[in-house]
Amino acid sequence: MTETTAPVAFPQSRTCPYQPPAAYDPLRGERPLTRITLFDGREAWLVSGHATARALLADPRLSSNRSRPGFPAPTRRFAGITNRRTALLGVDDPEHRTQRRMVVGDFTLKRAVELRPQIQQIVDERLDAMIAQGPPADLVTTFALPVPSMVICALLGVPYADHDFFETQSRRLLRGPETADVEDARDRLEAYFGELIDHKQQDPGTGLLDDLVHRQLRDGALDRDGLTALALILLVAGHETTANMISLGTYTLLQHPERLAELRADPGLLPAAVEELMRMLSIADGLLRLAVEDIEVAGTTIRKGDGVVFATSVINRDETVYPDPDTLDWSRPARHHVAFGFGIHQCLGQNLARAELEIALHTLFDRLPTLRLAAPAEEIPFKPGDTIQGMLELPVTW
Ligand code: HEM
Repeated sequence: MTETTAPVAFPQSRTCPYQPPAAYDPLRGERPLTRITLFDGREAWLVSGHATARALLADPRLSSNRSRPGFPAPTRRFAGITNRRTALLGVDDPEHRTQRRMVVGDFTLKRAVELRPQIQQIVDERLDAMIAQGPPADLVTTFALPVPSMVICALLGVPYADHDFFETQSRRLLRGPETADVEDARDRLEAYFGELIDHKQQDPGTGLLDDLVHRQLRDGALDRDGLTALALILLVAGHETTANMISLGTYTLLQHPERLAELRADPGLLPAAVEELMRMLSIADGLLRLAVEDIEVAGTTIRKGDGVVFATSVINRDETVYPDPDTLDWSRPARHHVAFGFGIHQCLGQNLARAELEIALHTLFDRLPTLRLAAPAEEIPFKPGDTIQGMLELPVTW
């Protein structure tokens, strides 16, 4: 393929929190694959076409193992921790299949349906507390973060009383300014889970981690470090992403009053609305892989050793699949978006996340019909360009 323009640098910051960065505009168009430059000057492929993305995300010649030499790093921080053991997302088949089988039963649609009353109760209690304190409130700290945090704690059997600790460390892990910060956060989280696992061996509880201690650790299918790595990804992936979707989803709905009015008039639209918000917001914007063999795709050869980055915000606005892609539209079939990824690493928690989003957004706007931003929309800070997007804070009043 002949390149006519200089490669775009990746990642870039969004200018509007729910739109892809304007700097990615040249990537939207006919070419499903383009060259990009990463922070260290290294080039990689950026996938922007929907069909090509789904084909490649399902291709075993792309590895998700972060410890392989040459694995693409979007930031210096990420580059510094690729040697650490990452369960599920950081391993390829057959190891991945073995790990996924250990936990998939707790993340089925049936299980998410069973958890709905518990999620509703958590949402109600958080809103009771927020309303009792009176407006204004920062929706991130009072609602968007505690709800998924409490849900995943209950599911895993992690004491929510420790939430200040693990939320702070997760934030440092995902966005620490320096590699040293990230390494330290990782050490602390690993030590925490190691101790929790030891405790659960002595005094078993009823969560998924207790189950894993009982079923896998005792049988030798997992060792203590393996279980620690699994616990860590379940907890971090389980609260950060959903929290970002709740806060950014609320912001986006408040910026689209007609769409919000449609949802209020017909709550039956909620499942479709959650899917369309997932597509539109694409908060996990930059999935990473490494080619372990040459791959011919879309008239291009990805060479063994090339890094491949999936810009979900651009893929999910491929207009050959989503006509008028920048418009929020509850009636479009949005389900095939890649906001939860695709292929073997497709989000383990997607059923749970959908249930949380439906219940959180519905109950929030139902209980607070006059909910509005408490600051000019353009002044509210959101996360800078990286691979996870969302609001840093969300001042609201009612
Ligand atoms: C709306 C919220 C969420 C979003 C946007 C999201 C997004 C994603 C995406 C894009 C991937 C694939 C990454 C890749 O292929 O590189 C993924 C994987 C994963 N997610 Fe989620 N996620 C969300 C909620 C959750 C929840 C609630 C959990 C609960 C534990 C969870 C656990 C995981 C795990 C464990 C993986 C790795 C799966 C594997 O490698 O087999 N996620 N998520």
